[in-house]
Amino acid sequence: MKPVNVIFDTDPGIDDAMALLLLHALPSINVQAISTVFGNASIEDCTRNALYICERFSLPYPVYKGAGVTFSGLAETAYPDFVHGADGLGDVGFPVPTRRAEPQSSVDYMIETLRATSEPIEVLAVGRMTNLAEALKQAPDIAPLIDRIVMMGGAVAVPGNVTEWAEANIYGDPEAAAFVFDSGVPVLMVGLDATLEHRMKKTALMSLRNQLGDAGEFLWQIKQCYLKFYADKGIFDGFPIHDSTAALALVHPECFEIRPGRLVCETLGEQRGRTVLTPSEDGPHTVAMAADSERLTALFETAMQTTYSARSQ
Ligand code: BDR
Ligand code: CA
Repeated sequence: MKPVNVIFDTDPGIDDAMALLLLHALPSINVQAISTVFGNASIEDCTRNALYICERFSLPYPVYKGAGVTFSGLAETAYPDFVHGADGLGDVGFPVPTRRAEPQSSVDYMIETLRATSEPIEVLAVGRMTNLAEALKQAPDIAPLIDRIVMMGGAVAVPGNVTEWAEANIYGDPEAAAFVFDSGVPVLMVGLDATLEHRMKKTALMSLRNQLGDAGEFLWQIKQCYLKFYADKGIFDGFPIHDSTAALALVHPECFEIRPGRLVCETLGEQRGRTVLTPSEDGPHTVAMAADSERLTALFETAMQTTYSARSQ
């Protein structure tokens, strides 16, 4: 099977960093570029983190800097440093990378690339959907050129993780989500319904530390912050790896229970950021409602071991 071309739209972010290493390791995915967005940290920090990971692990992907404010122009007042550290990568103290972002903005890159390509391209969006909304607003002609958007975000039948209703990526820019849902582009939403069912145990992370060489050490270091966040909440039996789960959904739908329908995003009132699915067989959207954790863990570990254990020998 030909690998799927993917633009990775991300806010690294601890689980985003893991997802980037995973995408590189999945033979069925061909990463075209990385597009950054603010979310887990500022746009400057998220872009620097993407560049750092590419430099440290020799990932050959161009990095395009994206939005630093929401679709409607609002700046962030408080980043989630209690989950991702103040620098977005667990405050380990990594050096500043020498690699630089491309001169073009991520929105311009997406518009130009989608218009120019004859190959199908999917966008994997694991942060706020600000860049996608902006690109679709500036260039509505790209909607039919995007094969599919696979997104980590939202919650249908489970509570949100920021408010009772809303998940973080959607809550951070509900207007962007609403615009993307209305754009006509097919969307696979991989939200908390699925990602909370696919967890990684601390013991598995420790094994990866021993097996994956520098990648294992990197993941172990950045994850300490994340582990503390979950331990403080009394969760010791495994932490979600949201963005990696979405990456796996892109090429392994067989590991998910997927429901078709039409999604809308609430933008007003106390339910702001809520994603609502009206089921229908011919709807433009699909939602991962449940995940097979065991199969996903096996796929994750095989890909990571094949790619990163070989490097460390
Ligand atoms: C999502 O929010 C971010 O903090 C994570 O990177 C993930 O994409 C989980 O709600
Ligand atoms: Ca993310």
